[in-house]
Amino acid sequence: MSKLNIALIGAGRRGGGSHLPVIAKLNDIYNLVAICDIDEETATQYAKQYNANPYTNVRDLVEHENIDVVDITVPGVAHHSIACFLADAGIHIICETPIAVTLPTSDMMIECAKKNNIKLEIAENYYRAPKERFLSKVIEADIIGDVARIYRIFYEGGYHGMSMLRLRAGGDPTSALGITQSSPVIPIMDRMKRNHTSENWSLGFIEFSNNATALMVYSNVIHARSLGRGQTGISQIDGSKGTIVGDEIYVTPAEDLQSGAKGIPHRAKRTTIDVDGVDVIEKIELELPDQTVTWENPLRKYPLTEGQIPVADELLSIAKAVLEDIEPEYGTTLARQDQEMNIAMNESGKRSKETILFPLTDLTETEKATHANYEKQYGHPIEDIEAGIDTFFPRR
Ligand SMILES: NC(=O)c1ccc[n+]([C@@H]2O[C@H](COP(=O)([O-])OP(=O)(O)OC[C@H]3O[C@@H](n4cnc5c(N)ncnc54)[C@H](O)[C@@H]3O)[C@@H](O)[C@H]2O)c1
Repeated sequence: MSKLNIALIGAGRRGGGSHLPVIAKLNDIYNLVAICDIDEETATQYAKQYNANPYTNVRDLVEHENIDVVDITVPGVAHHSIACFLADAGIHIICETPIAVTLPTSDMMIECAKKNNIKLEIAENYYRAPKERFLSKVIEADIIGDVARIYRIFYEGGYHGMSMLRLRAGGDPTSALGITQSSPVIPIMDRMKRNHTSENWSLGFIEFSNNATALMVYSNVIHARSLGRGQTGISQIDGSKGTIVGDEIYVTPAEDLQSGAKGIPHRAKRTTIDVDGVDVIEKIELELPDQTVTWENPLRKYPLTEGQIPVADELLSIAKAVLEDIEPEYGTTLARQDQEMNIAMNESGKRSKETILFPLTDLTETEKATHANYEKQYGHPIEDIEAGIDTFFPRR
């Protein structure tokens, strides 16, 4: 099987720090040919480090390289412009989260991909973490029964948070209630080199078609673990038979059901193997008195740390889609839905906690503000793809 030629666009914190090291480890699948970043120093530095060709402009990259797949890791406001340009050039795409910053710009991407018959995967990574893949198996195995409520307090937020709530609920969202609040904080730079001058706090309550409900609390400062915020989080999934609290799976023995029904916590066992000097997770296994649930790492032949597995997983999802002509695992429908839930939660906050119903049919005030801010900051309408690909989108 011949390898896929891949190029990365936007070698910033995510692209340079998380994606490039993983692409280098997947060298049986990918041949990294080029790195493009509008910042010349960044492009040159990473191209040298990874023995690839540097570019500072997407047009030049497409003109000079023979690329099968592009990994887009530029800021979210630029995703639709760069993705549509590449789709028009017939190149398959994996794009960082979110799919795009609003639903109309997401739809532009989806349309461009469809029109050009290219595969488009979005790099939603949270559900691909070994711990979450294992918990999906626990829920599928009916260990806690039907999921009724999900609490994710002080964990990931926005579209990432919504993605986890939707996955755990196992249904389609029907309504969203949001409370949002913004308050100043002293200027800080967090451990991921992100600047914050305000705390943007949100609470989301989502109802699903199967009667499950979910509650999420998030803020950028909590997520950054800065200023002492968010040092403890609550991740709890309540089912009809048991509960998952963090890493503990509570199951009630049959003989105790009518005498207190106190759940007993069980912890899964993790095993690792050494692959080229890296401690690689091999499997996560939960042994219950009458049942065993096992998640085996399908990528265990690669020297990937646990944090790198989700990134490798999404890169392999687009490779598989291209090579086998199938749809990528997460894909645009779920990516759009998770962004729609995120927008609805913010819109509800804006409209004084009005409950928003799905699907969203009109352009929300939240999206109108995003489009207006974009135009004010970059001097062209957000739909102007040609202008977008030549624009420098600075770090937040
Ligand atoms: N999945 C996750 O957990 C996760 C985490 C962090 C960031 N992200 C996503 O990753 C993406 C990048 O975020 P980041 O924090 O690395 O941003 P960043 O600002 O650190 O990096 C972006 C890079 O893109 C370059 N760039 C800007 N405009 C360009 C253009 N027109 N052409 C080519 N290059 C251009 C910049 O020079 C910069 O090096 C965003 O979409 C973000 O939402 C996802």
